[in-house]
Amino acid sequence: MQRKIIETGDGSKTLFIPEMDEQYHSVNGAITESEYVYLDKGYRHNQSLEPVVLEIGFGTGLNALLTALEAEKSQRKTTYISLEKYPLKAEEVKQLNYGSLISEEAAQLFEQLHTRLWNSKTTVTPFLDLLKIEADLKTFSFDNLPLVDIIYYDAFGPDKQPEMWEEQIFKSIFGISNQSATLVTYSAKGEIRRRMERSGFTSERLPGPPGKRQMLRVSKL
Ligand SMILES: C[S@@+](CC[C@H](N)C(=O)[O-])C[C@H]1O[C@@H](n2cnc3c(N)ncnc32)[C@H](O)[C@@H]1O
Repeated sequence: MQRKIIETGDGSKTLFIPEMDEQYHSVNGAITESEYVYLDKGYRHNQSLEPVVLEIGFGTGLNALLTALEAEKSQRKTTYISLEKYPLKAEEVKQLNYGSLISEEAAQLFEQLHTRLWNSKTTVTPFLDLLKIEADLKTFSFDNLPLVDIIYYDAFGPDKQPEMWEEQIFKSIFGISNQSATLVTYSAKGEIRRRMERSGFTSERLPGPPGKRQMLRVSKL
C-alpha cells in the first residue's frame, strides 16, 4: 500500500493513502484533531488514576505521543496498548514533524515510541508503559488483554474500511472494558453509534474537531 506524507491545516503532517483516498488524520489539523478527540474528550475526561488505554490503529504514533506527554504532566501512570496491522517504515516516521512542532522532549519520545519492539511490553517513561501489537483487528482475540479504561477508536473511516466497525468488535471491546470505561472516536455516524449501543455502551454526541460537526463518546456506565 503506497502512502504519501501531506501537511494538514495546523502545519502538522500526516499520511495519505491515494488508493483508498483516505488519510490518517483530519486534513484540518492532525495534532488539533488528536488533541481534541482523544486527549481532551477521552484521556482527560476519564477519571482513572492509572489508566489502561487501548488504541485501534497505532499509525503515526501521534495519539501515543500526546498521551505520553499528558501522562507525565498529570502524573498518571498509564499503560498504552495499541494494535496495528501496517506499521510505518522508518523513512516515513522521519518525515513526520510532531516532535519539532511540540518540543525537543517530544521529538525524543516520538523516536522512542517508534523504535521500541513490537509485541512486548516496555517502559518508555516513568508514566508510560507501551505495548504495540502487530495484528489484524479482524482476527485479533482480546481475551489476553487486561481490562481497559480508555479506548481510542481510530480506524480508517467506516465508508473506507467497514470491516473495522463491526458490532462484534465493539462487543469484544465492551467485554474487556472497566466499569467506568470511555471510548472516543472521530466518527459520529448514526449506524456506528447504534452498533456501539447494541454492544452495551451508552453514547453521547459531542461537537467535533475543526471541520467535523460531531464526534462520538461512549461509556460503559
Ligand atoms: C486513522 S489511521 C490511525 C491513526 C493513528 N491513531 C495515528 O495517531 O496516527 C488507521 C490505522 O489503522 C490501521 N489498520 C488498518 N487496517 C487494520 C487492521 N485490519 N488491523 C489493525 N490495524 C489496521 C492503519 O494501518 C492505520 O494505522
